[in-house]
Amino acid sequence: MKRKRIIGTIVVVVLIIGVIICVKRWNIWFNNPTELSYVASPDPGRIMLTFGNDGEQSRNISWQCDAVPQKGWVELIKDSTSDTIRVSAQSKLFKTTGGQSVYYWAKLKNLVFHSNYTYRVCNGKKHSGWYRFSLPDNTTDRFSFVYFGDVQDTLHGKLKEVFTNVRHQLPKTDFYVFVGDLIERPMDCYWKHTFDLLDSISQTKPIVVSPGNHEYIKGLVNLIEDRFTYTLSYFVDSRYKDNDVFSFDYKDATIITLDSNRDIWFFFAQRKWLKEVLQKSTKKWKIVVLHHPIYSVHSKYNNLAVRAFFNPLIKEYGVDLVLEGHEHGYARMTTKTDDGQLTTPIYLVSHSSPKDYRLYFNDLYDRYGTNQKFYQNIEVSKDTLRVKAFTGDNQLYDDISIIKAKNQVKVVDNAKKIPQKLEVPGSYKIKKPKDAVKYAKEMKEWLNRAPK
Ligand SMILES: [Fe+2]
Repeated sequence: MKRKRIIGTIVVVVLIIGVIICVKRWNIWFNNPTELSYVASPDPGRIMLTFGNDGEQSRNISWQCDAVPQKGWVELIKDSTSDTIRVSAQSKLFKTTGGQSVYYWAKLKNLVFHSNYTYRVCNGKKHSGWYRFSLPDNTTDRFSFVYFGDVQDTLHGKLKEVFTNVRHQLPKTDFYVFVGDLIERPMDCYWKHTFDLLDSISQTKPIVVSPGNHEYIKGLVNLIEDRFTYTLSYFVDSRYKDNDVFSFDYKDATIITLDSNRDIWFFFAQRKWLKEVLQKSTKKWKIVVLHHPIYSVHSKYNNLAVRAFFNPLIKEYGVDLVLEGHEHGYARMTTKTDDGQLTTPIYLVSHSSPKDYRLYFNDLYDRYGTNQKFYQNIEVSKDTLRVKAFTGDNQLYDDISIIKAKNQVKVVDNAKKIPQKLEVPGSYKIKKPKDAVKYAKEMKEWLNRAPK
């Protein structure tokens, strides 16, 4: 009888705790705010150049036009030729309670290395302006790209300045990689804002994005919104068993984007896909991009499933760099050998969002950054891959190199003399003053024990 009463009490306590957690987390888990009504522009716009699904000489171009499907195509001219090639687009009508719009994407194949192309997108009698993009030469010795963590700008936010600055600082970058949460919410107004941020980049440099949770519709089973898939149109063909994953080769690198937002039972197929891509890759550099950090910088217990499913493969197949976001801070972790030498994989977390989250200072990491916006330039030159992280005002914040020569991997930390900037964000001090004091203490303790 006594035993029954104890079991009954435990069940009731567990149920009460479950209900309290559900009530507190309901909005975070399940609430999808209603989209404000919108009217799609009757002119072709929101153009995005991405890599394609047909090898290094393919590119996709997506755009949006009006609310009624019509014929769409890209007009493409290769420099030093007079022929205009017409490439037909596929299209999908996308509807929400806020409105409807038609998405188009055209697949450009068999482009020529070391060439410049001019293009415009067309619907009926309407067309966009002309834009240019380049294909690199067919050598493997040098390339660079920009990596951004979460963007998630608020409407009328201040990130335009950051993107314009990066475009001017790194005009020769080959492409841009985003780790997801490109938008604050899956709504037309946020997409409009994001395209405004990316203006002059999205039309001219290939963009790659791994999905973030803010691109998802929340529910018992989370679902990616089709608007994201049609915009990053390589996903239409690269989706694997309902996982929005993608990989491409660029010069001497294989770059793989995972979808870490999926529910755990989807990870079995995603892991199989990752293994196959890594096994097939013959490239010198392997880079994995995913939204959730393999080693969380938010809590000891976050993202454990992501780590359990993907990290063993990342280590086994010699992945060099893992690019991550989601936890709204900067953090860099090198792997250490048994005798304390730095090696790969290197795990990076970054963000440029106006929102800073509280970080958890995990001793596996080398350095952290808070209360700043960050962007990264990743440059491959012969045997060296070098990552430089900058704050939004172009101050060098981190600098680390991977050198691969004579079958050896060496990692050099060039940032030992760059001080870590750890500050409690002003908004945090206002919203949670008691926690802010505790957070400041944790930062101080971390700085005392951080690798020197
Ligand atoms: Fe996120």
